[in-house]
Amino acid sequence: MALAMNNTPEFPVLIDKKKIDAAVRRLAAEISRDYRDKNPVLLGVLKGSFIFMADLVRQLDFPLEIEFIRLFSYGGGTHSSGSVKMARGVPLKLKGRHVLVVEDIIDTGFTLAHLLHYLKEKEPASVKLCAFTDKPSRRVAVLNVDYVGFTVPDKFVVGYGLDYAEKYRNLPEVSYLED
Ligand code: IMP
Ligand code: MG
Repeated sequence: MALAMNNTPEFPVLIDKKKIDAAVRRLAAEISRDYRDKNPVLLGVLKGSFIFMADLVRQLDFPLEIEFIRLFSYGGGTHSSGSVKMARGVPLKLKGRHVLVVEDIIDTGFTLAHLLHYLKEKEPASVKLCAFTDKPSRRVAVLNVDYVGFTVPDKFVVGYGLDYAEKYRNLPEVSYLED
């Protein structure tokens, strides 16, 4: 595998920086329209959502709060193990709050189905989902994704927060691993 100047492999780019910026601006406009007066809690799913969350919230100019939750479903491979683990709960009180879950990618949907079940018990006023990328071809759990940046093909994607075995989160664009 070829190494670029910065010592990271050169994967084929799927979504370049320009497209990412445009999608983040579009999502921010949609979210602003729906949440401007709701003081929402944006709940990012770590680690994958950290870059997307950082770009997204800097496009939102109304009162909101940011929380993160850590969920695991992959044991270092490219396929969901199906069992989802949570490192710690949400420290913030969610009762009566409008919660917007911010995810890097939705694949089988197991991770978010698990999280939605957990959140429902906190009695929030509403829960919606915002995914930077969506891979609907492999969906198992039925989910309604309210805000989607990109629909991606059935490939393993990395960069812009997304990892393969904890690597490549720092790539500025979204690339894919060739089979
Ligand atoms: P799900 O539970 O199968 O929907 O998987 C969701 C989680 O798996 C995401 O939050 C990612 O962390 C990870 N994941 C799924 N597909 C990919 C991918 O193509 N690249 C990197 N991570 C992925
Ligand atoms: Mg994730």
